[in-house]
Amino acid sequence: MSQELSFRPFADQDEEAVISLWERCGLTRPHNDPVKDIAFAREQPASDILVGELEGGIVASVMVGHDGHRGTLYYVSVDPDLQGKGYGRQLMRHAEGWLKAQGVWKLNLLLRADNEKIRAFYEALGYEVEPRLCMARRLID
Ligand SMILES: CC(C)(COP(=O)(O)OP(=O)(O)OC[C@H]1O[C@@H](n2cnc3c(N)ncnc32)[C@H](O)[C@@H]1OP(=O)(O)O)[C@@H](O)C(=O)NCCC(=O)NCCS
Repeated sequence: MSQELSFRPFADQDEEAVISLWERCGLTRPHNDPVKDIAFAREQPASDILVGELEGGIVASVMVGHDGHRGTLYYVSVDPDLQGKGYGRQLMRHAEGWLKAQGVWKLNLLLRADNEKIRAFYEALGYEVEPRLCMARRLID
């Protein structure tokens, strides 16, 4: 049985621990600077980064936000040594609560179609596949 994580918004001193968590979870990409991503999410009123702590250390984190209509999440991460114990579920419920408190009534998630593990995780939490095509264009190189 998992312990209760203690959640709070990201604070300045969390940068190193959170980026290290994202790296260990395989979430960082050469074309995305995590420092820039963190700063951008934190300076907008409709987004933030939340961290989950266990015994004073950061073991989970998620970037939450909405576009004035739908909510979304990025960098959903649980320490690899602690995965499979229910912390991801706690993290998702907390992120959903953050969005609900902002008045967001629907959360859309984007994941790679061949990522069966993550799909199973979200399905276990009540998410369903909706047939949509995701289109994107870079606005700034
Ligand atoms: C995805 C992630 C956050 C899940 O966290 P976690 O702590 O392992 O998940 P939990 O233990 O809370 O699992 C919650 C539910 O999902 C299910 N689940 C989790 N991983 C699963 C898997 N690989 N296959 C099938 N089901 C899975 C669990 O069985 C559980 O269901 P249950 O409560 O009905 O038993 C974690 O694995 C992670 O950080 N992965 C690397 C980063 C990543 O890929 N993030 C997602 C980006 S889109």
